Amino acid sequence: MKIYNYGAINIDHIYQVPHLVKPGETLSSSSYQQVLGGKGANQSIALAKAGAQVLHIGRCNKSDQWAIEQLSQAGVNCDLVEGVDQPSGHAIIQVDQQAENCIVLFGGANQSFDPDDISTALKSAVAGDWLLLQNECSNIADAVNFAAAAQLKIVLNPSPMLSNIDDFPLHKVSLLVVNELELQQLLQRKCDTKEKMVEQVRKAFPDTDVVVTLGAQGAMWINADEQIQVDAYVVEVVDTTAAGDTFLGFLLAAIGRGESKKAALIAGCKASSLAVQRLGASSSIPTADQVAAL
Ligand code: RIB
Repeated sequence: MKIYNYGAINIDHIYQVPHLVKPGETLSSSSYQQVLGGKGANQSIALAKAGAQVLHIGRCNKSDQWAIEQLSQAGVNCDLVEGVDQPSGHAIIQVDQQAENCIVLFGGANQSFDPDDISTALKSAVAGDWLLLQNECSNIADAVNFAAAAQLKIVLNPSPMLSNIDDFPLHKVSLLVVNELELQQLLQRKCDTKEKMVEQVRKAFPDTDVVVTLGAQGAMWINADEQIQVDAYVVEVVDTTAAGDTFLGFLLAAIGRGESKKAALIAGCKASSLAVQRLGASSSIPTADQVAAL
């Protein structure tokens, strides 16, 4: 299975703080790290580390060649990654002592793709290949439409949830991967019980496989016929940044290997349980051996 991932490459600036900064407050941080991040880059790295064949479609500033090198070193094919004149996307991330975080994003080069750039990047894709998307790059709805017409299978992680989601042709997506909050926003309602959640997902997305990450309660796969839940691993959480990206990469790689839905969910949960024990974005993603050893 060949996976194209049209996704953001960010430079993450991560600050450990006693609490998330309040309006008007000036706060000292106890540590600072600059690492490769962006949901796209993180997911590509997780996929490659999990053994999948992944081609990243993305852009960063010409001076940030190190970011492309890190993707390549992790095993990501970067033939479709370009260095451009626009500034690289970046994220300012605060992580507090309870492992809560908050993130300010600047899109930069990630927002410089027009629909023609996306179709050009995908010209070597053939029916049956996968296209993975998040919501940090420009023209995602066009990417979905193009990929569906080319009979690619589309995996969408609609994060971060912005108002443009309303224009996404979600019925063309094969696999939707969301957290509970994102699901609530898509359904425009809060589901009090798991039964209600399953019922609402089936009603809203009758032809789509939907994977919902449930934090400490694990993850659930829902489609018209099945409902599969696996538990989370109980660990000491340091930083949840990129945990969802790690989950998705290991989940999708397992599906690509033909593993069962349950096995794929377990792989995702194992990998993300390791990621949350480390500070950082792409730097927190474990290797396949570390996940297998769990
Ligand atoms: O999912 C985590 C990512 O979100 C970070 O790496 C940051 O760049 C933001 O895009």
